[in-house]
Amino acid sequence: MSLKIEPLSPQLGARVTGVDLAKPLDGETFRRIHQAALDHLVVVFPGQELSVEDQLRFTGLFGDIGARNRATPLPEGDSVPPTVMLVSNIRVDGKPIGSLPDGEMMFHADGAYTETPKKFTLLYAIDVPATGGNTLFANLYAAYEALPDDLKRKLAGCHAEQVFYTGSVQKDDPLGPLTGSWVHPVFIEHPDTGRTSLFVSRLMTTRIVELAEDESNAVLERLFDHEEKPEFVYEHAWTPGDLVMWDDRCTNHARTHFAKTERRQLRRTTVSGTALAAAKIKQAAAVEAHPGG
Ligand code: OGA
Ligand code: MN
Repeated sequence: MSLKIEPLSPQLGARVTGVDLAKPLDGETFRRIHQAALDHLVVVFPGQELSVEDQLRFTGLFGDIGARNRATPLPEGDSVPPTVMLVSNIRVDGKPIGSLPDGEMMFHADGAYTETPKKFTLLYAIDVPATGGNTLFANLYAAYEALPDDLKRKLAGCHAEQVFYTGSVQKDDPLGPLTGSWVHPVFIEHPDTGRTSLFVSRLMTTRIVELAEDESNAVLERLFDHEEKPEFVYEHAWTPGDLVMWDDRCTNHARTHFAKTERRQLRRTTVSGTALAAAKIKQAAAVEAHPGG
């Protein structure tokens, strides 16, 4: 088997084949997969057969395995280790066996409401609907680069508040208690690539700290509409056995509607991230203006 990495769409995403993630990886294969994740932002491994242990072992290659953030009891109970989330609408005695059970979910980045947003999220498909329940991924590097100059200038140096209520899939519809909130720069420097990413999302971002409420709301609407344009988005239609891994520091993801009558179950793990610094946009402009200094 030889490792093959093929782009999935012009926006982002690559399909990775020729590797069995249920087996330990050699150093070179791991290095190429890690680089593909940084280059393509989303990597799709079709046709994998992964136990919980296999998924945790692969996840752990990229850093510390992320813990769940919420304080309330998990719907998963002790059916999976506390580092694993089941994303599922399957119900036993009327109660979901997993988290984020139903319906369309707005764009967001996992853990954006904490001091250290996730580095990567890994979702492994077990049961998927015949139609719907696709996951959308938006390229936030491309969204930053294509941002109109007035917004690039206005928001350089600004910060945004990110908020999440447990289990919520739509803003202004808190399904559970506050899970957390944190303020990050609007334009972050990706810790591994150094590239600038537009770190706001429709589900989680509530305000731009430096702007008055009306202006903040208007600017955020523009940012959300901009970053969700099809030119930045890849839509993944799931097949059981797909493992999809994405970089939460330079992508947002969302979920399309699916019927309540369809079974959907995916297994999620995450890699812990680090605090995010502001992109060095102003400094770069200053260097250009004073090339000698
Ligand atoms: C997640 C998530 C989307 C989906 O697991 O973090 O947002 O398609 N899932 O279920
Ligand atoms: Mn998510």
